[in-house]
Amino acid sequence: MFYKTDRHHGLPYNPFKALVAPRPIGWISTVGADGVLNLAPYSYFNAIGDEPPMVVFSSTGYKDTVANVKATGEFVCNLVTKDLSDAMNASSAAVPDHVSEFELAGVTPVQSELVSAPRVGEAKAALECKAVKVEQLRDIDGNELNQWLVTGQVVGVYISDDALEDGRVKTAALQPLARLGYMDYSAVDEVFSLKRPGS
Ligand SMILES: Cc1cc2nc3c(=O)[nH]c(=O)nc-3n(C[C@H](O)[C@H](O)[C@H](O)COP(=O)(O)O)c2cc1C
Repeated sequence: MFYKTDRHHGLPYNPFKALVAPRPIGWISTVGADGVLNLAPYSYFNAIGDEPPMVVFSSTGYKDTVANVKATGEFVCNLVTKDLSDAMNASSAAVPDHVSEFELAGVTPVQSELVSAPRVGEAKAALECKAVKVEQLRDIDGNELNQWLVTGQVVGVYISDDALEDGRVKTAALQPLARLGYMDYSAVDEVFSLKRPGS
């Protein structure tokens, strides 16, 4: 099949997110201008470079996370592992901005080293970020979209000591969670290595 995206795909559910999968989940913690702690998952999220390390996430709508980044210039991307699936999901509830999703999700805010936003204490790793850009996206015709892209530079990295073995992150043991399409997720628990040509 083939479909043009300005027409209906003809399938019972939109296949797009199932085709760009797996996607990492940035479990993003911020603090509001009013001091309320905020936490929400974003799977339109990824690393886009490592010299210096940079990340992006995108919000459909001007959500609290984006407003907080705009206000403070800072955020933390917490690693979601399989054991934290339910907490991550609970933190995606649409609640008023005076409610902290840390409480809803039952996770512990722990002070970050370099940014005002706390990290999730239960998460095995966290990227402390400073915002480089918060921009409203436009389509190919130049129309403004209800879509906001945040680019951040990672200024500090927390890794739990027990997530490391022989100086390497134990990816398969940690079981990082990935978002697929529909209501589906996958945990990364099988890893293999490939040498690049010529190396
Ligand atoms: C696994 C998962 C991934 C999500 N990814 C996104 C995303 O990439 N962009 C987005 O706008 N919302 C996404 N959501 C929905 C937000 O988490 C949800 O709207 C949340 O309430 C936003 O919180 P905030 O207003 O505190 O930022 C996702 C939800 C889940 C469960």
